[in-house]
Amino acid sequence: MYKILSGKEPSDALLEELKAKVKKMAKKPHLAIVLVGNDPASEIYVKKKLEKAKTTGVKTTLREMDGSTSEKELLELVDKLNNDHEIHGFIVQSPLPEQIDEKKVIEAIDPKKDVDGWTSSNMGRMFVGLDTFLPATPAGVMKILDYYGIELEGKNITVIGRSNVVGKPLAFLLLQRNATVTICHSKTKDLSMHTKNADIIVAAAGKPGLVTAEMVKKGACIIDVGTTRVDGRLKGDVDFDNVIKKAHCSPVPGGVGPMTVAILIGNVVRAMENSN
Ligand SMILES: NC(=O)c1ccc[n+]([C@@H]2O[C@H](COP(=O)([O-])OP(=O)(O)OC[C@H]3O[C@@H](n4cnc5c(N)ncnc54)[C@H](OP(=O)(O)O)[C@@H]3O)[C@@H](O)[C@H]2O)c1
Repeated sequence: MYKILSGKEPSDALLEELKAKVKKMAKKPHLAIVLVGNDPASEIYVKKKLEKAKTTGVKTTLREMDGSTSEKELLELVDKLNNDHEIHGFIVQSPLPEQIDEKKVIEAIDPKKDVDGWTSSNMGRMFVGLDTFLPATPAGVMKILDYYGIELEGKNITVIGRSNVVGKPLAFLLLQRNATVTICHSKTKDLSMHTKNADIIVAAAGKPGLVTAEMVKKGACIIDVGTTRVDGRLKGDVDFDNVIKKAHCSPVPGGVGPMTVAILIGNVVRAMENSN
């Protein structure tokens, strides 16, 4: 009765659109991914990104670095990629080993090649409403909401999580679309008070099972961004099996994940267009 807000259909549609666009390009967009260390989850995400990029016609390069790589060595590679005219956009897969300051690395990326949209320059452009690469996961959530025709204007939306790459930019994108946004985080006193009244909930805490059916208004829309590996399986933040009995809900896996990848590839295609 309630809809499963799958990310598969909207991401397939976007990838098809991009594939057609890339087919017409004389020079193909080129994405590089830097992977430091061998975090199993990161390896899976990177594999997916490369796979989808390739099927869209985007050229790919994977630069793997040892887990003991120093910050200086990584910054040197970032500098190389910034100056490599064959690479149109690149990302440094997060998380990074603890000896590396992730913020410093992100800031070293040339904003014109920052297809994750994480540099302060691109974030700042987004906040003041200038054209930029939107961060992939928040933009992916927006695409899912739009694909399913979910009205945002005037709606009460609770975003759980306030990270720089998901919660904060997402809250802003929702605000730009005239929603009334509440941002919750680990110090929020009564989370369910904020979720029970919400027309839409976006959960991005990385805490499996955090959002239960009791916390959700009947008929609401729930987007689950959370991805945590539990016993080798990917788990969202939402108790999907029970929540789907009273609200529309995106699944994990198969929800925001595929959308994030498709938006990233779209950013690479744009980076190529911008470079012309
Ligand atoms: N599907 C995808 O493509 C995709 C992409 C990116 C991220 N993710 C997933 O999305 C989740 C969030 O990612 P992130 O990078 O934003 O993580 P993060 O940097 O760890 O941020 C988590 C946020 O959740 C808040 N939080 C933690 N426990 C909470 C609780 N019990 N109640 C309310 N808020 C709580 C934290 O609050 P404080 O700020 O107070 O610490 C923080 O703001 C993770 O599971 C990640 O794997 C998925």
